[in-house]
Amino acid sequence: MKLHHNPASPFVRMVTVTAREAGLADRIEEIFTGVFLPVSPHEGVISDSPLGKIPTLVTDDGTALYDSRVICEYLADMAPDKNLLPASGDARWRCLTLQALGQGLADTAVNLRYETALRPEELRWSEWIDAQRARINRSLDALANDRMAELADVTVGSISAAVCLGYMDFRYPDDDWRTPRPVLAEWYAGFSERPSMKETDPAVLV
Ligand code: BEZ
Repeated sequence: MKLHHNPASPFVRMVTVTAREAGLADRIEEIFTGVFLPVSPHEGVISDSPLGKIPTLVTDDGTALYDSRVICEYLADMAPDKNLLPASGDARWRCLTLQALGQGLADTAVNLRYETALRPEELRWSEWIDAQRARINRSLDALANDRMAELADVTVGSISAAVCLGYMDFRYPDDDWRTPRPVLAEWYAGFSERPSMKETDPAVLV
């Protein structure tokens, strides 16, 4: 399998952590096609995905899968013994909703970065920036206040949450998300010791 990749992307990292937890990392060739500038996607990604977005996974039979949620579900399906995505019932919907919360948090953190690091200063929209910051804080509160039970298991949901917290540290090192959320901070400290997290740490790879 071939993965269009940039180690700075939290969406890519959700896939690379899931691949490691599934025991499938050695079957995936990572190809750097994720340019930093969102206005000029790499031709290599566009040839496999009309969206031109990373991650895109090309499976062994040539099928292109995107986005990260679909790829993570595909990898979880290939390793049913790991229970990275509960098969049915309440546990499945709670896990998928936790994953969606992590995805939404990553979307917001990445969009905020584009706005504050890439958009010319005179074009920035301060109310929009404030709204993204408020969304990030609400989402972090939701993880800390409502999701600790699901975070106990290693699933596509808890991976998504951990990767977002890693992205906050990577791109927003001055934002102290830990002090108001000590239980979440303790959980993350433990989760980030997993080999899957250490091997994909953007602070080391980028
Ligand atoms: C980043 O450098 O923060 C980044 C790169 C690719 C996708 C998303 C974020």
